[in-house]
Amino acid sequence: MDTATIASLLQEGRTFPPPEEFRRQAHIQDMRLYEEARRDPVGFWERGAAELHWFRRWDKVLEWNPPYAQWFVGGKINASYNCIDRHLSTFRKNKAAIIWEGEPGEQRVLTYQDLYREVCQLANALKALGVKRGDRVTIYLPMVPELPIAMLACARIGAPHSVVFGGFSADALRDRIQDAQAKVLITADGGYRRGGVVPLKRNADEAVAQCPSIEKVIVVRRIGGIAEQTMQKGRDVWWHEVVQGQPGVCPAEPMDSEDLLFLLYTSGTTGKPKGIIHTTGGYLTHVYITTKYIFDLKEEDTYWCTADIGWVTGHSYIVYGPLANGATSVMYEGAPDYPDKDRFWAIVEKYRVNILYTAPTAIRSFMRWGEEYPQRHDLSSLRLLGTVGEPINPEAWVWYWKHIGGGRCPIVDTWWQTETGGILITPLPGVVTLKPGSATLPFPGVEAEVVDERGNPVPPGQGGYLVLTRPWPGMLRGIYGDPQRYTQTYWSRFPGRYFTGDGAKKDADGYFWLLGRVDDVIKVSAHRLSTMEIESALVDHPCVAEAAAIGKNHEVKGEAVVVFVTVKEGVKTSPQLAQELQAHVARKIGAIARPDQVIFTSALPKTRSGKIMRRLLRDIAEGRALGDITTLESPGVIEALKEQYGEEREM
Ligand code: WTA
Repeated sequence: MDTATIASLLQEGRTFPPPEEFRRQAHIQDMRLYEEARRDPVGFWERGAAELHWFRRWDKVLEWNPPYAQWFVGGKINASYNCIDRHLSTFRKNKAAIIWEGEPGEQRVLTYQDLYREVCQLANALKALGVKRGDRVTIYLPMVPELPIAMLACARIGAPHSVVFGGFSADALRDRIQDAQAKVLITADGGYRRGGVVPLKRNADEAVAQCPSIEKVIVVRRIGGIAEQTMQKGRDVWWHEVVQGQPGVCPAEPMDSEDLLFLLYTSGTTGKPKGIIHTTGGYLTHVYITTKYIFDLKEEDTYWCTADIGWVTGHSYIVYGPLANGATSVMYEGAPDYPDKDRFWAIVEKYRVNILYTAPTAIRSFMRWGEEYPQRHDLSSLRLLGTVGEPINPEAWVWYWKHIGGGRCPIVDTWWQTETGGILITPLPGVVTLKPGSATLPFPGVEAEVVDERGNPVPPGQGGYLVLTRPWPGMLRGIYGDPQRYTQTYWSRFPGRYFTGDGAKKDADGYFWLLGRVDDVIKVSAHRLSTMEIESALVDHPCVAEAAAIGKNHEVKGEAVVVFVTVKEGVKTSPQLAQELQAHVARKIGAIARPDQVIFTSALPKTRSGKIMRRLLRDIAEGRALGDITTLESPGVIEALKEQYGEEREM
């Protein structure tokens, strides 16, 4: 299908009903479930929870004291038990739980029985190192099997984990360890990315030097060689040595339903990342039931979510959701274009993947690389596709549907956030007619609305703010150590309702169309960053006086980071300095935050009250006509910037 055809197809507003063959075998085949859940949302979630294993059943499903919810009150449960032990007494005992592929090409398959043994051994090792129920453990690992093993070992003994994405810098790791006051860090000597080695242990050493709470560092040997000399006596221990001789059995701690399962740091509107709190019973119920219904998971499926476990998508839809369902979850360590641009399709073919869940930014890259790469492989095993992380443009949606799904696979466009724990707006693939670019309907039991500034629902087709109007089991329980920020960020703008930070519109059929963030959060290649975080990194450089960061529309990444910088008195600007600042941001936060462009300016446009007008900067960067600038303190700044921006672009 050429672009012209796609364009005309989109104009005619084509819809995609579930293919009959898919519908006939789907878990959910008609809309009755939506109706039932609307009548009794709490009962819907309760039935989901009842499919899990509880040491003690709950007394009450929901206790809602806005903005605080408690789910399955009084229930006792263990996430690790539900993801592993529950399956061992069934035919799943020797089923593949995790199929792992390393970037260099190695393969490891862990059956549920294998996973049990390895998780128990590490859990016992953690106990031997002094980790107790309630102690936080930070995990900073590449995409290797030890990562889910470590999470499940922590969950087993009731030690909340805080996974830090392996692409984050030493500083970012340090801040997250300090905020969580973690006792143990689990890391690796390195990880592979595009053939190169990511120096995780070096970053970890730098971070831990400033983290007195850390007593022990467990190191996975992934690379070998050099890290040997960096092992600090008394502090650092090799993973393979600490697990050696540990019993392969470790009882799962009965946790209270509302006990902390994990912290996951995410970016907000300030420079300081926030530790999102997720508890046990509600979170597990949410990810369990959404995985089952949205991915229409069947016993024999091979399921692959391409996210990194360092982000929430990996927590919920590589580890907890699929494993709670007893599924086979594929995990890949590396880049999609290594050694060649067909790596994903080679993996789909090799393992006969049935369900593929990825991000729009990846799809746009594939589109740009061309159909020849997927065409090299047999993708006929695929039966369902998914996307997450940012809005998907209809063109990419249709390309995915046609060239990856072969026109036979429904696409679930799933909207959610680190804070929501699991998916909230999504099609159910066997019943919902799809519209490219729309995440369609709230999942059963979920209620969402699009409202204006004053909190009133807007008419169909009109843009507004996306809010959630009733609690859901996977919702965050707070921000670690900062209850005020929790209330302020999510519950103060529209009292009693959860403010998502996203713009959206609802069409006449009640379908939701997500329009991107309305705050200072940006999505760069589906990775969540805050403009303030990048600005803080910049002003930390000795040459920088002031900085403003924005997300500029980008064909592949969705958004790209562009920064406007004023330098200190006496500093000379140069292309070298621009490069140095790019490297500085990458060093302070991680390569994902590296600005695409640095623009030096003599002043930043500010309102009379001194607020930087980022909206204007975005207009300039995207070459749009400027809107109202009457509130600007000195309009001359804008003229100078526009002129200069034009020059920079020609450079
Ligand atoms: C965006 C990722 C449009 C949104 C799971 C949200 C999406 C932010 C979609 C959360 C989607 C996620 N369509 N936008 N299907 N999924 N988003 O915390 O702006 O990394 O607020 O969680 O990603 O990002 P986070």
